Amino acid sequence: MTRVAVLVSGSGTNLQALIDATAQHEHPVHIAVVVCNRPGAPAIGRAQAAGIPVEVRSHRAFADRASYDQELVRTLEPYGVDWICCAGFMRILGPTLISAYDGHILNIHPSILPSFPGLNAQAQALAAGVRITGCTVHIVDAGVDTGQIVAQGVVPVHTNDTEDTLTARLLKMEHRAYTTVLRWVGDGTLQPGGQVAEGTVCSWSDV
Ligand code: GAR
Repeated sequence: MTRVAVLVSGSGTNLQALIDATAQHEHPVHIAVVVCNRPGAPAIGRAQAAGIPVEVRSHRAFADRASYDQELVRTLEPYGVDWICCAGFMRILGPTLISAYDGHILNIHPSILPSFPGLNAQAQALAAGVRITGCTVHIVDAGVDTGQIVAQGVVPVHTNDTEDTLTARLLKMEHRAYTTVLRWVGDGTLQPGGQVAEGTVCSWSDV
């Protein structure tokens, strides 16, 4: 069975969707560990409720990005995971971790990349006045939200949207996209590096 680590920082709704989905897959993936960089984050309770081991590693306890990166590699090593899913993990991964799991690290981002990378993607979309936005599941590489795109979902931006209403609409699409990609991880549709079999439907629209 494919073994996955999920990296989180916050509320963990994507983590919850992944947990709920793994039980239903024909080729199930096993979430072997959840790693969280924020002590007290609600995502921790979600993992515990599902009986998944949680490793809390605050980046604040480490002098620099490189030493935190090495700590993440050390933390994950005993769990023998094949893939890593960043699910609202608000840290940039460093070269040590990326090379240790080369092409096997996924992230979800709340925009249609390459538009609106980095922080506050929903606010960026509202400020730009776009009428549609969405989410992207992509492979993590050395850049910020630049890796191979795996799947994308589109949602409308309404004229009366706030960051909160747009975020809520996006999260529903994020859960749909990420659970689908996790199924592809389990059944081999997704190849390391982000390629998917020809004919696979990789985009969805609520517009
Ligand atoms: C999600 O909207 C995710 O796309 C975003 O953080 C949120 C986490 O929500 N990630 C990024 O912005 C990464 N750049 P969740 O904790 O409820 O899953």
